[in-house]
Amino acid sequence: MSDSLFDFDPSPDQYAVMGNPIGHSKSPRIHNEFARQTKQHIEYHALQVDEGGLKQAVGNFQANGGKGLNITVPFKEDAWRLVDERSTHAEQAGAVNTIMIRKDGSLFGDNTDGIGLMRDIKHNHQVKIKQLRVLIMGAGGAVRGILAPLLEQKPATITIVNRTLGKAVQLADLFTHSTTEKQLISACAYDALDGKEFDLIINGTSASLQGDLPPLPDNILAEGACCYDMMYGKEPTPFLRWAAQQGASLCFDGLGMLVEQAAVSFELWRGVKPNTSPVITLLQES
Ligand code: ATR
Repeated sequence: MSDSLFDFDPSPDQYAVMGNPIGHSKSPRIHNEFARQTKQHIEYHALQVDEGGLKQAVGNFQANGGKGLNITVPFKEDAWRLVDERSTHAEQAGAVNTIMIRKDGSLFGDNTDGIGLMRDIKHNHQVKIKQLRVLIMGAGGAVRGILAPLLEQKPATITIVNRTLGKAVQLADLFTHSTTEKQLISACAYDALDGKEFDLIINGTSASLQGDLPPLPDNILAEGACCYDMMYGKEPTPFLRWAAQQGASLCFDGLGMLVEQAAVSFELWRGVKPNTSPVITLLQES
């Protein structure tokens, strides 16, 4: 008789995303698609967690045999504090978006947002970041999460621009200290961008959520420039509309990043790499 009969476990491994609000999360759809495609026997659900309730919720999930979690707004920093061990990217991001529950019960925390963004820009959109002059708008958690993977791509410069200049300066300082290339990262205010030129602009602010455009001056796009909004929606965001008006060669929203960061989590948990492009297409069509 085949061993596989005895090895077969009829109950699927449990995974979930925790956040608040969580009702509109696309993560269950993405992960269940990955599972179908790679023939992984898993279930993935969205779980709403009350403020201050992450530790309890993760404990309950673990007690019920859960294997892994995605963590989203507003719990990524709480998750960073909760885990027993962190990846280098999670350490540098100060936030955890992926937890792997190990066999010994310990929690390993990773942050896949930055790698997800890099994969979307490099592989899906075929933009090489090496030697580009990069402008990043915003200085919150979303931007902190992408800086280390961005630095690994060896851009010529990274300029962080933020409405509240002090936060951009703090973030630039944090990453200047963690790299050897001192002059690579700088911070400035929006009005100091006048007269400068960039090859890649990434919008990491939450302005698009409110339908706002950060106060960018005209004529800062270099020839062939690429504009990327980490947000996405049914219509182009205000930033992507601005980019098109300014003559950007390439304009992308963050849907690809969402799917790619999920794929990195899936790989960590299951050891198999899903094919992201059909899943991106599926979400674009729905
Ligand atoms: P997240 O974790 O998503 O990064 P956050 O920490 O609240 O959220 O940060 C939001 C970022 O978007 C901040 O950099 C914020 O600028 P301030 O630090 O000056 O508040 C930026 N932001 C939000 N709305 C904006 C707007 N309308 N124009 C420009 N920047 C905006």
